[in-house]
Amino acid sequence: MFTLIVAMDEERNIGKNGWMPWHLPDDLKQFKARTLNHTIVMGKTTFAAIGKPLPKRRNLVVTHDLSIEEKYPGVEGVFDFQEYLKRNWNTPEEIFICGGSRIYAQALPYCHKLVISWVDGVFEADTKFPAFDESEFEVESIEKHEGFTVKTLRRKVSDA
Ligand SMILES: NC(=O)c1ccc[n+]([C@@H]2O[C@H](COP(=O)([O-])OP(=O)(O)OC[C@H]3O[C@@H](n4cnc5c(N)ncnc54)[C@H](OP(=O)(O)O)[C@@H]3O)[C@@H](O)[C@H]2O)c1
Repeated sequence: MFTLIVAMDEERNIGKNGWMPWHLPDDLKQFKARTLNHTIVMGKTTFAAIGKPLPKRRNLVVTHDLSIEEKYPGVEGVFDFQEYLKRNWNTPEEIFICGGSRIYAQALPYCHKLVISWVDGVFEADTKFPAFDESEFEVESIEKHEGFTVKTLRRKVSDA
């Protein structure tokens, strides 16, 4: 199953100049705690900004660059993202979708769970999280932190 994890402000902003528009070490800490020892999936732009695989996690990078694994040891390339999403959406393993915007947009329909850090305020930004219908999800938990609130949403089971 896929869990999407993102930090966004009150206008769904998520990025500026290839990085996050805010400095929230506590949010990075909770990201680490949740993703440690799991598989994480990110787009090439997000990975390039980090510059190296994140330790103690299986790092999958979505890209058209077939030589990514040679360039960055410790990274596994995903070259056909739609096929990857279709093949893995129903696995028992929890796989974290970590952005950026283009990865979120493609993965959202396949995600059972969204872990959203809602950052207080509105920031200058150049990248947004895609618009989504919150009514398709129910709130599982809410955790208030200094400067942000982590809301965990679970996709409602369809009656169809
Ligand atoms: N606030 C947050 O929680 C958060 C989290 C993550 C990222 N971000 C921000 O989001 C921004 C980056 O987002 P972004 O949308 O520009 O980039 P991105 O989603 O990180 O990466 C886009 C790249 O991924 C590859 N890609 C995407 N779809 C693909 C597909 N179907 N098949 C093959 N390759 C595919 C392409 O790489 P190639 O060009 O190599 O083929 C594409 O250029 C940054 O500002 C970052 O800081 C924010």
